[in-house]
Amino acid sequence: MIRGFVGSPNKKGRTAAIVREALLGAEEQGAEVEMVHLSDYQVSDCFDCNVEHQGGMDCGPDDDYRALSMMIDSSDAVVIGSPVYWSAITSNVRAMLSRKLRVEMGSGPNLGMPALGILVAGGSGNGMVEAMKPLYLLFEKLRWHPLNSFPVTRFNWDRALVVATEAGRDLAAMSDKRRPIPEDQIWTFYNDLRYRSYDRIDERRLLAELIVGALPEIGKFASIASELREKRGKVETLFQQHRKAEAVPLIDDIIFRATEIWEVLSPSARAYEEKGDRERD
Ligand SMILES: Cc1cc2nc3c(=O)[nH]c(=O)nc-3n(C[C@H](O)[C@H](O)[C@H](O)COP(=O)(O)O)c2cc1C
Repeated sequence: MIRGFVGSPNKKGRTAAIVREALLGAEEQGAEVEMVHLSDYQVSDCFDCNVEHQGGMDCGPDDDYRALSMMIDSSDAVVIGSPVYWSAITSNVRAMLSRKLRVEMGSGPNLGMPALGILVAGGSGNGMVEAMKPLYLLFEKLRWHPLNSFPVTRFNWDRALVVATEAGRDLAAMSDKRRPIPEDQIWTFYNDLRYRSYDRIDERRLLAELIVGALPEIGKFASIASELREKRGKVETLFQQHRKAEAVPLIDDIIFRATEIWEVLSPSARAYEEKGDRERD
């Protein structure tokens, strides 16, 4: 069983949609799948109640942690999806995994659990990479075996759905057993995960690339789109010359102007915004 945990309060939002897409990819490979909405469960933050937990199921607060913990334990692989809230994961995702970590402390039945984290930055796009870090840090401390994540914003939404399906297939291929990372490879394994070394400026550069890449060449906007593409070329040159700081004003300008055009022109933006929550499944 591959379970997808959705950390959004919005059951018909983008996080649920993209977790479902990953699960569909896994299902194509023959996996049994199930989606779990964390908003149906109450899990408080760790109380640091200092009970002897290690290896056990008990965990201080009397809430739904135990039910979720058992779902994780009985999964062959997990997808954890969170919307990006202020460049971070949501508190229900953090609460579930940090309680799990407190109980297991990187030991127990889930060492090497194949896992995929998906962060959905559906607003400005800021934090699409930054929010991967707290989630993947929890994966690291839990000693799970994560696949690389990928950027998800409203600007690259259609492409991200395709990438999610592919990642779901890859996850299914790993789900036949736990795959613990040998202790002497822990640091390099997690260090080498994609986006791990990104700073905020690297993230903004990637965001500029995603938005400009999504701009349709239509009418009078075509020349602005091509001007922004040219500017992106200058950003790349500055990065190659290790002059990142000088690229910041160019990146800001690209993101600001490209977002404005994208909001007016992008068919997928209009389709998503016009379709009310109730109509989406
Ligand atoms: C409290 C809050 C904080 C947010 N912070 C960010 C943010 O830092 N970056 C961003 O791109 N979007 C941000 N958003 C927008 C959400 O990422 C976006 O609405 C996303 O689609 C929510 O996922 P959902 O559709 O599953 O609800 C924020 C939304 C809320 C409610």
